[in-house]
Amino acid sequence: MRRSRALYLSLCLGVALSATASASQFGFESMRGLIESRGIKSVDELIAALPADLRSHYTLVFASRSLQGATPANPRVILFGSDAEFVLTFNGAPTERGSSAVETMEFDARNNNFQFREIQFPADKGGPVTISEANSARCVACHGQPARPVWDTPPFWPGVYGERYGAGLSAAEAQGMRAFLALQQRDARYRSLLGAAAFGQRETYVASARAVYNGVSTTSPNAQLSALLTRLNIRSILSEMASRPAFDAHRYVLLAAAEGSCGPLPEYYPASIRDQIADELRGFRRMNAGTDRLQAAAVAARLTGRNGRVQRGAAGLDDLRFVVERNLGLSTQQWTLALERNTYDASAPEGAPTLAQVLFERVGLTDEELRGLHAYRSFTSDDRYCEHLRRQSVRALEAWYSAHPLPAAPASVARLEPSPSRDPDAPSSQNLVASKPEFLDRCTSCHTGQVGPFIPFADPGALAQRLVQGNYPHGRLLDEILYRLAPEAGAQSMPRGITISAAQRRRLEDYFLDLGQGGATRSAL
Ligand code: HEC
Ligand code: HEC
Repeated sequence: MRRSRALYLSLCLGVALSATASASQFGFESMRGLIESRGIKSVDELIAALPADLRSHYTLVFASRSLQGATPANPRVILFGSDAEFVLTFNGAPTERGSSAVETMEFDARNNNFQFREIQFPADKGGPVTISEANSARCVACHGQPARPVWDTPPFWPGVYGERYGAGLSAAEAQGMRAFLALQQRDARYRSLLGAAAFGQRETYVASARAVYNGVSTTSPNAQLSALLTRLNIRSILSEMASRPAFDAHRYVLLAAAEGSCGPLPEYYPASIRDQIADELRGFRRMNAGTDRLQAAAVAARLTGRNGRVQRGAAGLDDLRFVVERNLGLSTQQWTLALERNTYDASAPEGAPTLAQVLFERVGLTDEELRGLHAYRSFTSDDRYCEHLRRQSVRALEAWYSAHPLPAAPASVARLEPSPSRDPDAPSSQNLVASKPEFLDRCTSCHTGQVGPFIPFADPGALAQRLVQGNYPHGRLLDEILYRLAPEAGAQSMPRGITISAAQRRRLEDYFLDLGQGGATRSAL
């Protein structure tokens, strides 16, 4: 009874707001207007006032690597509406990190980019509500530049209810979900969510026999969000590519590389530079071998203890990335939706558009013959469609490269060369300042600014003393750091957003251990 009344009220509110505004029209400015016109002073009030579309499409994160803490009973909520062009997040318990803030992401459809903002609500209702600038340093530390959403790729979203695509809740998830649903109706924030009970039902994650029979496809909320974000991400990537001067001349080779079924890439270039391209392409592939394996290992680590097993096919993006980096001069480091920026995982749920599709649409706009041949493809590398691509590509690139001779491999490609490996078992040096391990500067950048809790990583003397003190969940600061460096830390592992190898981890561990010993001796003196 109470429930249906609450539902009825919130539906009315939603209808009142969304009658004039469709899902995609309720964006950041509408939210700001709502806060101002209604004098909203708390996260609770804001969530209650949002349109029903946002409050009925969401996912629940029970272990988050973001600025907002999460637990199974008090998950972080990601509201995404029916198109994910405006996304809003909040969490629950007042003791959780970031619980007085709401985070938003808006897709700017005019410029095809993403804008992240944070809204801080005052501790007491007298204070002001503050709204951060778009894509502040605090957000781009993890969302990158250009800023993009961070969302794991199917089939795993470790730490999000329904973490395994196509499977129901695990026993541990089901237990957490029961705890959440038990408080949801009474909680000042969570009660504004519509249809939360569905998160406890198997059909939300796995298509029932009846649904399959009726041809209804069930897409879990995590997969829905993946598909929507992938669509927007692809749109922004295409727009970035198209803004490069070399794009037009390379559109055919880009399409061939993206489709990957039209034979060797060098054949799309003028004969005079084919050997050089083939050489560089081999080098490029060698340098990139293994990057996706690292990310798969990171995902597996976050699933451990929950019977995780990750298998991922080869990303197959190498050729396309080669053309984009080498010929358009654009970095592809930030393409993935995964937090691990040095990986190139482009997995997306079925139904999400691919770069090949959007490139085809784009090239097809001015090439009717291409569209016709596509319909009759025989899917061999010498079918007429591929022949057409090759011919058009060579023609366009002959003109381009006669005006813009191909330079030697640029620094961006050279930079990807693995750094000369040091012997991980070599005894660590006594001179701690001189032996700063790789990635220490990354710890510094997040922990001496506005992202993570303050830890003096840039000051070895101060750090040495802090290491042997403190009362962290895993002991002293040193113990907490060692725990965070281990893969077992799962969602809590450090350095956040960066996948490191075992040898790199060992060097970091050795550095902190040595420094900690120094700190222990000093405080004993
Ligand atoms: C320490 C890393 C980190 C920082 C810093 C960070 N985020 Fe995120 N963000 C994440 C992760 C990880 C996710 C994926 C969902 C999750 O695990 O909670 C995410 C997801 C989001 C989402 C949901 C849409 C999406 O990208 O999947 C929004 C909105 C968001 N963040 C906003 C912000 C804003 C605004 C800031 C700056 C105030 C910010 N984030 C800073 C890690 C971070
Ligand atoms: C991209 C940003 C980012 C990077 C890089 C990063 N951290 Fe963190 N770190 C965070 C955030 C955010 C938190 C707080 C959330 C949490 O506890 O997981 C955190 C928490 C911690 C904590 C727990 C502190 C506390 O007060 O509970 C430790 C210890 C830590 N990080 C160590 C490191 C070390 C060591 C590195 C480098 C190897 C590193 N971090 C790199 C963002 C980062």
